[in-house]
Amino acid sequence: MSDFTHGFWSIYISVITVVSIIGTWIFLRSHTSRKLAPGEKPELIEHTWDGDLQDLNNPLPRWWLGLFYATMVFSVAYLALWPGLGNFAGILGWTSTGQYESEVQAAEARFQPIYAGFLKQDIATVAADPDARAIGKNLFLTYCSQCHGSNAAGARGFPDLTDNDWLYGGDPDTIRTTITSGRAGVMPPWGEALGADGVKQVTHYVLSLSGRQHDATLAAAGKTKFAENCVACHMPDGTGMQALGAPNLTDKVWLYGGSEATIIETITKGRNGVMPAMTQTLGTTSNKEAKLHLLAAYVYGLSQKQ
Ligand code: HEC
Ligand code: HEC
Repeated sequence: MSDFTHGFWSIYISVITVVSIIGTWIFLRSHTSRKLAPGEKPELIEHTWDGDLQDLNNPLPRWWLGLFYATMVFSVAYLALWPGLGNFAGILGWTSTGQYESEVQAAEARFQPIYAGFLKQDIATVAADPDARAIGKNLFLTYCSQCHGSNAAGARGFPDLTDNDWLYGGDPDTIRTTITSGRAGVMPPWGEALGADGVKQVTHYVLSLSGRQHDATLAAAGKTKFAENCVACHMPDGTGMQALGAPNLTDKVWLYGGSEATIIETITKGRNGVMPAMTQTLGTTSNKEAKLHLLAAYVYGLSQKQ
């Protein structure tokens, strides 16, 4: 179905199309149907170019005219069968969405048995299967690469899925839950509660946790503030808590960055990383369960190679 903003445009387009076809036909009939009468000689039209190039008023060759009429028959048939004439849907009722849907259905039906086979195996087994990995990679490129990158190595705020360092956990079931239901990391803002100086102190304590260069006096003051405000999520030793997605602050892996300026920004303003729930994205697609299974297996396999 065409989408015109107003019914007028449908009529406008239809009228122009029909008038053009009829007009072309009338023009051809009136100007080119002339045949030479027996014995009649084509006349010379007065001008001559390039010395000896003459213009005669011979009628058009019949085969050429025939082609012209054929294009008209074609356009009439086409406009009758397929959409093209304003809002008229065409006798065949074809739509691009309909064609897309039937192609998707055909593809899903083709993959159904293959998917069903993988669904019976556990995620770790599927992860080791090269065919499953190839399908998983395609699914990943379709649904995940815009955030995690086509090589799954992530970017600032989007975790690297290949490094075996996990915010929420890297066992097959947890990965599957992450993908299926999504995750929302909530790091509250501390700018107001701690003030600029307090934030700086706690930042230097965080820097010290992973052995980064830091100011020992500031870090010592920050340690108390960390114990008061941060341990509930990041644990007393700073190693984080997967149930909340609170990152380990003692390692060299940073979700947002480990420089002093970035950590100050994180602590002052807070962070809210959101991993969308794929059940919503996959919607009512058939094979949804199998796709989630294959995606989980693909992600699980990424860090198992290392
Ligand atoms: C709109 C962007 C976006 C898309 C699309 C997306 N993700 Fe994520 N994903 C995130 C963000 C952001 C996080 C981190 C959430 C947080 O900060 O708590 C995340 C976290 C994850 C995690 C948890 C990593 C860990 O360390 O525990 C996994 C696994 C994951 N994504 C897999 C996927 C897969 C598989 C897909 C595709 C089916 C996908 N993601 C699509 C943004 C996205
Ligand atoms: C309510 C739980 C909670 C509390 C309390 C909390 N955090 Fe966080 N923190 C998180 C979560 C969850 C994330 C990950 C945010 C995301 O995924 O977007 C995070 C992220 C961070 C990061 C970013 C790490 C990286 O890899 O880039 C730093 C730094 C940090 N927190 C420090 C602190 C400090 C310092 C405090 C105390 C002043 C604190 N957090 C208090 C839950 C918490």
